Amino acid sequence: MPRVNDHFAKLKAGYLFPEIGRRVRGFQADNSDAPIIKLGIGDVTEPLAPAITSAMKAAVDEMGERATFHGYGPERGYGFLIDAIRQHDYASRGVDIADDEIFVSDGSKCDSGNVQELFAADATIAVTDPVYPVYVDSNVMAGRTGAADENGRYTGIVYLPATEENKFAPAPSDKADVVYLCSPNNPTGTVATADYLETWVDWANAHDALIIFDAAYEAFIRDDSLPHSIYEIDGARTCAIEMRSYSKRAGFTGVRCAFMVVPKELEGKTSSGDTVSFNAMWNRRHSTKFNGASYLVQRGAAAVYSEEGLQQTNAQVDFYMENARLLREGLGAAGFTCYGGEHAPYIWLKTREGTGSWEFFDQLLRTCHIVGTPGAGFGPSGEGFFRLSAFNSRDNVTEAIERIKKAYG
Ligand code: MLT
Repeated sequence: MPRVNDHFAKLKAGYLFPEIGRRVRGFQADNSDAPIIKLGIGDVTEPLAPAITSAMKAAVDEMGERATFHGYGPERGYGFLIDAIRQHDYASRGVDIADDEIFVSDGSKCDSGNVQELFAADATIAVTDPVYPVYVDSNVMAGRTGAADENGRYTGIVYLPATEENKFAPAPSDKADVVYLCSPNNPTGTVATADYLETWVDWANAHDALIIFDAAYEAFIRDDSLPHSIYEIDGARTCAIEMRSYSKRAGFTGVRCAFMVVPKELEGKTSSGDTVSFNAMWNRRHSTKFNGASYLVQRGAAAVYSEEGLQQTNAQVDFYMENARLLREGLGAAGFTCYGGEHAPYIWLKTREGTGSWEFFDQLLRTCHIVGTPGAGFGPSGEGFFRLSAFNSRDNVTEAIERIKKAYG
């Protein structure tokens, strides 16, 4: 038999969301009439905005004509999309990003799993805990960790607990080569201030470390004075890679499009001490393993930045954020301590009287027929917490709040 990658054996049996799906299907098999409301995985529920579908339909028509047909596109993305990103996402906030620093992809999940290919095999990885599981699991698969301990912490990974005490904003206290930061944060819903990011940028530059900044939820920031990009912080161009996504911002979870920014100033060292450009490395990797996001999808993404596209997608984000407000207030009225939900579509609630987060998952499913995500699924420091997503219809969110108030209020 062929030899396999032994590091896979260190992983938990299933990835978090399929595991939740498995448990929900098990419950449904015995309770087929239960009117389940899903506030677990952050999957959008509003249909694509008309500006996007029109652009994609027009792109389909182009593809059906010899004169306007497109074969392989540029691996880094079409100029029309890169230009829109540069202007609307960065120049509009005073940030200068060059075209060849933007890499369009088929999703931030892939980008956040793939980016670790740039780091040394023995690089030390730091994550805030709880954390989006892809950052950890992709490094486990790549062999950068030992086994997990009884709390689920892998040896070799530096865990930075994000707790109520530190307002879910851990300080850069440990030596690491690479740190993953996410703001607005999945799962805690916390948003990073400029001062907080400045601390990290200064630390990374002083320690020759690299920050992977996941800004997939930046569109949900309600206060314009908060940074949307890490490049709004002086010094970030020499220490940070940024990831952005259209999934939550424009309803692309089923369409798939995202991008990564790799500044040209960002440098690393080879084992022989030579200096190399991360931008050149990522370009090499991207053009070797990826043939570009599809033309249709990139036309759809570019339409997000049209006048109607911005209006329509911003209205969707507002809609989800109103759901978040209702959830936060409703859960508060039911006596739960809640965090997040102000600049992020996730509510991070504290379970009562030390109820374990998987126990709370089962309880909520059984009693209220509501699916959420157990905090422990995002890392050991998530134990005792539970994440509810604001991505659903208004009726379902209102109904979920009523059920929770009835059961717990
Ligand atoms: C989540 O629920 O954490 C996200 O939807 C997962 C993802 O973006 O891959």
